[in-house]
Amino acid sequence: MGFIKVAAALQLILSSISAAPTGVIGLEKNAVSQSPIVYDAVIVGGGPAGLSAVSGLARVRRKVLLIDSGEYRNDPTRHMHDVIGADGLSPPFFRWKARGQLAYYESASLINGTVTTIKAATSNITSTVQDAPFTVRATLPSGEERTVGARGIILATGLRDIIPDTPGLQQNWGKGIYWCPWCDGNEHADQALGILSPLIDAASSVQEISTLNSDIIAFVNGTYTPEARAATEKKFPNWEKYLELRNIKIENRTIAGLVRLADGGANEHPEAPTFPEHDLFRFP
Ligand SMILES: Cc1cc2nc3c(=O)[nH]c(=O)nc-3n(C[C@H](O)[C@H](O)[C@H](O)COP(=O)(O)OP(=O)(O)OC[C@H]3O[C@@H](n4cnc5c(N)ncnc54)[C@H](O)[C@@H]3O)c2cc1C
Ligand SMILES: *[C@@H]1O[C@H](CO)[C@@H](O)[C@H](O)[C@H]1NC(C)=O
Ligand SMILES: *[C@@H]1O[C@H](CO)[C@@H](O)[C@H](O)[C@H]1NC(C)=O
Ligand SMILES: *[C@@H]1O[C@H](CO)[C@@H](O)[C@H](O)[C@H]1NC(C)=O
Ligand SMILES: *[C@@H]1O[C@H](CO)[C@@H](O)[C@H](O)[C@H]1NC(C)=O
Repeated sequence: MGFIKVAAALQLILSSISAAPTGVIGLEKNAVSQSPIVYDAVIVGGGPAGLSAVSGLARVRRKVLLIDSGEYRNDPTRHMHDVIGADGLSPPFFRWKARGQLAYYESASLINGTVTTIKAATSNITSTVQDAPFTVRATLPSGEERTVGARGIILATGLRDIIPDTPGLQQNWGKGIYWCPWCDGNEHADQALGILSPLIDAASSVQEISTLNSDIIAFVNGTYTPEARAATEKKFPNWEKYLELRNIKIENRTIAGLVRLADGGANEHPEAPTFPEHDLFRFP
């Protein structure tokens, strides 16, 4: 009895909160299934963002379809960090766990495929699925084409890193060469560290990792010029003093490539969320 009362009270509170978007009710009316099928939302991309979007919608029984082409930005990394509750998991394990949880929600469907077209009915290009504001076309791994209608679209397509084609850089990306101190810095704390950066960003990069590393060389790759020095002074007043006080050397030679000498992923701890990864590189 007590529970039922609480539930009724909650429902009252919620309905008053959600009074504003009356359009929601209109959407429900149109939810009658069409052929081809019309979803409340199609979510493009199945990384953490897309999977979270599925959760929110499926838990309120929105009919959702997630289409994922499986090229994850953090694919090269060994472990994910700074996602509390998931610290140190491998990204594939994290996604597998998320998909397993979403499998409990009947209104959610997850498929592999690449979305190739999204047409809005309100645009000049007529939507091909009757009464659906959006028509979504995808190519499935089998090569088969799939067309569905959607009332909403969530783009969770992530982004792509553009990495210089310096030999060794792309190959070792995410494995001892990192860009995000919160993601990978802790595993490389107190190690000798090189910062690969144009001069103008060198001091602010040092600032980001100043609680992690002190033995640092800034590899500025030929950007140590009078013009860059002046621009850096504007962006980071007293940058030279800042680096000098921390004993940080600037190396200006052009980076022609880098070669791995040690693999920090070789001695993984099976359970700890974080452990030191001793990667080592040499500039040939
Ligand atoms: C090396 C590295 C390490 C990282 N480590 C961490 C970390 O430790 N902690 C952290 O919080 N963050 C980390 N990040 C950032 C991390 O990438 C993001 O936090 C997270 O993965 C972003 O999730 P997302 O869902 O936005 O994108 P993604 O995981 O990249 O997912 C996007 C998905 O959309 C798909 N897609 C794109 N276009 C289409 C289309 N047309 N049709 C169908 N699917 C499509 C892609 O194939 C992909 O599967 C790291 C990044 C890098 C590069
Ligand atoms: C989707 O692709 C992944 C590999 O990227 C595979 O493990 C999974 O089984 C595929 N899912 C379906 C439903 O085919
Ligand atoms: C719509 O399409 C017609 C014919 O293809 C074109 O002339 C017109 O400029 C388009 N309008 C918009 C708003 O794109
Ligand atoms: C170094 O500079 C050269 C051009 O001077 C550029 O081609 C290369 O991509 C740069 N390398 C890195 C790692 O930024
Ligand atoms: C740094 O390298 C660039 C490009 O080679 C060069 O023009 C510049 O003079 C160098 N700076 C110093 C201080 O040697």
